[in-house]
Amino acid sequence: MSADSNHPKDHAGETANPAVDGTELIRFDHVTKRFGTNTVLDSLDFTVSSGKHVTLIGPSGSGKTTILRLLMTLLKPDEGTIKVGGEYLTHEEKGGKLVPAGEKHIREVRKNIGMVFQQFNLFPNMKVLRNITEAPVHVLGMEKDAAEERARELLDLVGLTEHLDKYPTQLSGGQQQRVAIARALAMRPQVLLLDEVTSALDPELVAGVLDVLRDIAHTTDITMLCVTHEMNFARDISDDVLMFDAGRVIESGSPEKIFTEPEHERTREFLSAVL
Ligand SMILES: Nc1ncnc2c1ncn2[C@@H]1O[C@H](COP(=O)(O)OP(=O)(O)O)[C@@H](O)[C@H]1O
Ligand SMILES: [Mg+2]
Repeated sequence: MSADSNHPKDHAGETANPAVDGTELIRFDHVTKRFGTNTVLDSLDFTVSSGKHVTLIGPSGSGKTTILRLLMTLLKPDEGTIKVGGEYLTHEEKGGKLVPAGEKHIREVRKNIGMVFQQFNLFPNMKVLRNITEAPVHVLGMEKDAAEERARELLDLVGLTEHLDKYPTQLSGGQQQRVAIARALAMRPQVLLLDEVTSALDPELVAGVLDVLRDIAHTTDITMLCVTHEMNFARDISDDVLMFDAGRVIESGSPEKIFTEPEHERTREFLSAVL
């Protein structure tokens, strides 16, 4: 894992950073996921290059969250393989063969991935600062002082410096979601997964969270894989948009292409319903 992930772009030139070299960070190869007889992902292939911001769009129930849950290893694929940073996520190579990976291997590869969910899921019994330092200290073994220093920087990034001593319930939903973003970044993941992170928020709180994400997209080199119904936001931050339907990517391209000249009727229908 690169210690320089999430590093401001200004410094990227000084620190040879593998996170921005444009190599493949995420790779799905023929990934199939079924729930009972429901084939949710159907031999799905896609890749995300390092440093890119990729947005998944598509109708509800089309399998977008399932993709992110597979990457978090909350689910395992029925068929196919997923690679993160060139390493198999749920498989290991042993004696030239691909076998299901052990927990230790999975934990190591998953350290490269951070996720923010629709629901903020903060630790309710911990103050804001400790919500952010808990995993770096206990999972990564960071020194408490270093973890707190990093947490303060991240709280500054998400505009919550003056709230570090509060409990989650003392914050608005938008502020809680910004803490959740800071908490995910504190683990220095190479890729940040965002699953409709503003859809549980009151409308007046959405813009503040999207501004923070825009800022992160524009000032850090972190790779983002983002599910959102906020099409203006998707347009602003995305290098690539993948239109997803019935377990497959039916169309992909730059935001300009997808939003202004979609090729597929299904994409046009979807966009006219959400725009
Ligand atoms: N744990 C589960 N058990 C059974 N079915 C599930 C489960 N999770 C998701 N599904 C089904 O998989 C499909 C895709 O779900 P999801 O990935 O959440 O779609 P999206 O995020 O695009 O709305 C839906 O039909 C959903 O009902
Ligand atoms: Mg979903």
